[in-house]
Amino acid sequence: MRYIPQVNKPLWKARAMTGTKKLFVKTYGCQMNVYDSERMAEALGAQGYQQVDSAEGADMILLNTCHIREKAAEKVYSELGRLKPLRAANPDLKIGVAGCVAQAEGEEIMHRQPMVDLVVGPQTYHRLPTMMEALARGEKALDTDFPEEDKFAHLPKGRKARRGPTAFLTVQEGCDKFCSFCVVPYTRGAEVSRPADRLLREARDLIDRGVREITLLGQNVNAYHGAGPDGGEWGLARLIREMATIDGLDRIRFTTSHPNDMDEDLIAAHGDCDKLMPYLHLPVQAGSDKVLKAMNRKHTAEAYLRLIERIRAARPDLHLSGDFIVGFPGETEADFQATLDLVETVGYGTAYSFKYSARPGTPAAERATVDPAEADDRLQRLQALLTRQQRAAQDAMVGRRVSVLFEKPGRMPGQMVGKSEYLHAVHVDGPETLKGQIAPVDTRRQRPELACRAIGGLNGTTCGAAGSRTECGSSR
Ligand code: 5AD
Ligand code: SF4
Repeated sequence: MRYIPQVNKPLWKARAMTGTKKLFVKTYGCQMNVYDSERMAEALGAQGYQQVDSAEGADMILLNTCHIREKAAEKVYSELGRLKPLRAANPDLKIGVAGCVAQAEGEEIMHRQPMVDLVVGPQTYHRLPTMMEALARGEKALDTDFPEEDKFAHLPKGRKARRGPTAFLTVQEGCDKFCSFCVVPYTRGAEVSRPADRLLREARDLIDRGVREITLLGQNVNAYHGAGPDGGEWGLARLIREMATIDGLDRIRFTTSHPNDMDEDLIAAHGDCDKLMPYLHLPVQAGSDKVLKAMNRKHTAEAYLRLIERIRAARPDLHLSGDFIVGFPGETEADFQATLDLVETVGYGTAYSFKYSARPGTPAAERATVDPAEADDRLQRLQALLTRQQRAAQDAMVGRRVSVLFEKPGRMPGQMVGKSEYLHAVHVDGPETLKGQIAPVDTRRQRPELACRAIGGLNGTTCGAAGSRTECGSSR
């Protein structure tokens, strides 16, 4: 950790940093960042910061950034530029950059944007309290280490506030797969799994605070291999089965997975663990073996298809979701056709597709790229097919009874919205007391353009896949 001394502020200013202060956290990217933001807000809560919904009037603004998308760093610099007037209006405003762009850019952020007071990587935010002390002394703080200690074990605990019915729980971080296009192994570091007993404790704590559905998170979550309380090493399936014994926890999900880490027990859990929801995000990225090899995915298209067959044999109504990259260096029209063929064979309920873009420092960034117009055209063709499949999956829901966990009021007065077991958003006319309840709903319509009209009773409309991804793959 490094502190960069600044011109010291008078002591009375440092003292003015204590008491109730307003914290605004803006989160980009995946659910893991959502989880990290919550933990950071909790840690800062212990320092007297209360989270607010707007940057205006905040005493501290924290951007929790994502590096997966194109020009991620440039976007953060633009966002920082937009904060300048707020800093000009309030020179005591503290501005911090966290997350994967902070990890990748490090001190460069403070050089390019001197108003940034704090830069903290995804593995060191448990040190925020010490960093805040440096800020109170008028110094800057920068920490992008990959420390030995488990940050989750060292995080100061904030107020145990009541929660909504769903929550994320990070069980594993980092990735050892090194797909040739991906920055995650560099920004998040090597795979680390959290000990199972801590996760079970955290899950029980979430249930006590009103949560009924937990999504287990990890960059490569199905590679989870945490220390079990019995002294052995637990895989993800073991952890899920143990979580499923917790009274009050009704639904378990997990994301994101690599095909090579779907072991027998995890496949079986989709069939025999009632609390594990029938929705699986299992990215394949491409359908051509040549491209998969160039991506360093370490599996073939055929192996992926066989795997899907086995998971579907365990859970026939499973909704599948995936990620695809088109225009990867060296991808020919025939390779792209193989991706379309794979999509046709699998039939996805939801999917996220991206045009390849080079990430500096990754192996693929050195390779010759596909003509951008060609890549655009392929992306459009793939998205047209995926959209058709998504519609078909929604159509198949009409007239079915689904089980909905209600989360919040809908946009229309008197409307409540929740998620089905397949992660479809479902809208009903109903009282706010439905929040946190799980109820059967007979679905009637599903076209997105019609979906948000309430129907009455607990007849509902499905509103497209609610998405399991954030910016690096869609909406929350
Ligand atoms: N270009 C395009 N898409 C990418 N993804 C990751 N890196 C890149 C890149 N360099 C996509 C992958 C991954 C998802 C989170 O983002 O499909 O699964
Ligand atoms: Fe990135 Fe996922 Fe590949 Fe890991 S498995 S390198 S996180 S795309």
